[in-house]
Amino acid sequence: MAARSDNTERFLDFARNDNQKPMTVLEVLQATTAYFKKHNVENPRLNAEHLLAHVLGRKRIELYLEFERVLTEPELAPLRNLVKRRSEGQPLQHLLGTTEFCGLTFLCDKRAMVPRPETEELVELIESKIENRELRIVDVGTGSGVIALTLAVKFPEAEILAVDISDDALALAQENAARVKLADRVRFLKSNLLENVEGCFDVIVANLPYISIQDRQSLSREVLHDPEVALFASAQGDELVRELIAQAPSQLRPGGMLALEIGIGQSEALLSALAEKNYRDISFKNDYSGVKRFLFARYG
Ligand SMILES: C[S@@+](CC[C@H](N)C(=O)[O-])C[C@H]1O[C@@H](n2cnc3c(N)ncnc32)[C@H](O)[C@@H]1O
Repeated sequence: MAARSDNTERFLDFARNDNQKPMTVLEVLQATTAYFKKHNVENPRLNAEHLLAHVLGRKRIELYLEFERVLTEPELAPLRNLVKRRSEGQPLQHLLGTTEFCGLTFLCDKRAMVPRPETEELVELIESKIENRELRIVDVGTGSGVIALTLAVKFPEAEILAVDISDDALALAQENAARVKLADRVRFLKSNLLENVEGCFDVIVANLPYISIQDRQSLSREVLHDPEVALFASAQGDELVRELIAQAPSQLRPGGMLALEIGIGQSEALLSALAEKNYRDISFKNDYSGVKRFLFARYG
C-alpha cells in the first residue's frame, strides 16, 4: 500500500482497523479520541462522544449502551467530516450547532460568541442577589442571547431588553428566543452600549468584549472562531466596560444594580472606576477557577 502522505489522508481511514473491518462504537470512540489527542484537542474523549452522539442522533450517555454495535459507512461519513473540522480547531459547539447554558439548549454558530461556563455563574449570582421579581433588566452585548433568555426563565415577571451592536448576534439571539419560546418576553434592540436604550432599569448586566487587541496571539484557535466584535475592546481591553460604567448611572433606578463579567487582572482598576462614579456596595466575586471575574455595584 502506498505510504500515506499527510494527516488528512490518515484521518480518512481512521475509522477502519488494519484489516479494514467495520468498527464498533467503542472502537470509533477510541480511534477518534486518539486522533484528537494527536491534534491537541482538549478533552478528546468528551469531544469524540459528543460528535458521535450527534451524528447518531443519540444522547451521549446512550452510546454506552451500544459500545459493541458495528457502525455502518453512512454513519461514519458525517463523523469523519466533523472530526476533521474539530481537529482543525473549529469549536465543538459550532459543529453540534447548539450549546447548553444553565440547563437550556441554545443555537450556537459563528454569528455570536460561544457562551462560556463562567457566564452561567454570572446569571446564578444575579439570581442570588435579586429579591424583587418585577424587574426591568437590560443585557448589554447579548450575543446569542443566553443571559437575557435565561434571566427571562428565572424571572417570569421581569421585563427584559437585550441589546447588541452586531446584527448577526441579534439575529441569532432572536432565533434562540423563538427556540426557547420566549420571543414575547424579551425585546431585542440594536444599540452601541446604552445609546438607543430608553428608560431606567433595576439591573444592567453585561458580558462585553474585554480582551486587549495585543492579547490576540495568546488566544486558542477555538476562541479565534468567535466574532472579533465579541472578543476585543481596544488597546487595554476594559474600555467598553469602563464606558458602560460611565453610562449606566443615568439608566439605573435608585438602588439598581450593575452586574459585569470582566477579564483577568481588570478588577482593581474597574473597582476604582466604579468608586469614582459614586457607585455603592461594590463587590467582586471569583469564578470557579479563582479568577476575579464578576463585579457588582449599586447606584443611588
Ligand atoms: C463577550 S460577547 C458576550 C455575548 C453574550 N452576552 C454571552 O455572554 O455569551 C460580547 C458581545 O458584546 C457585543 N458588543 C461589542 N461591542 C458592543 C457595543 N459597543 N455595544 C453593544 N454590544 C457590543 C458583541 O457583539 C458581543 O455579542
